[in-house]
Amino acid sequence: IKKAKLISKLIKNLNLKNKKLIVLIGHMGSGKSTIGKILARELNWNFFDSDKEIEKKENMSINQIFTEKSESHFRNLEKKYIIKLMQNKNTVIALGGGSIKISKIRKFVEKEAISIFLKVDIKTLLKRLLNNKNRPLLINTNIEKKIKVLDSERYKLYRNANIILENTKSKKDIIDQILRILNNEKR
Ligand code: S3P
Repeated sequence: IKKAKLISKLIKNLNLKNKKLIVLIGHMGSGKSTIGKILARELNWNFFDSDKEIEKKENMSINQIFTEKSESHFRNLEKKYIIKLMQNKNTVIALGGGSIKISKIRKFVEKEAISIFLKVDIKTLLKRLLNNKNRPLLINTNIEKKIKVLDSERYKLYRNANIILENTKSKKDIIDQILRILNNEKR
């Protein structure tokens, strides 16, 4: 009973019946791509990683886009490609950690998708991001300070997700929890 209560507390405004789109949100290093891939496989849905799609379509790495163009150019690409990706049905998308700051994306997510926030404490994030090489926002900077700044800007947006999960347990636990919540909603 205790467990059921806990889970229901973390679920907000779910109306999944017509929603065939799941987006994973949260900080860099929170496990969106890893979890998203497994979840899509379990559901037999498509999987996309927004960063990978942008790299493929632009034929440039994220690092290159930031350095050769700019962050704001990257954000425009995010807006364009993520809105396009979200037209798909039966699809799971791992969204770049900063894309939630784009209001057009936020509105679309709210209306059309089931959003899942993978909430990971800063200490764990730091451990995972320490040797990061392909995240331009974390290069040549104090990663801890940077993540804290990003968290102060973004946490309030992440926490509006339909489902909030603490991503410190095993991958299997997380997937099981998500599937359980989705199944309960369908009934
Ligand atoms: C960013 C997160 C990255 C990538 C880019 C910027 C951010 O995606 O889009 O480096 O602003 O948090 P991941 O969250 O997939 O690492």
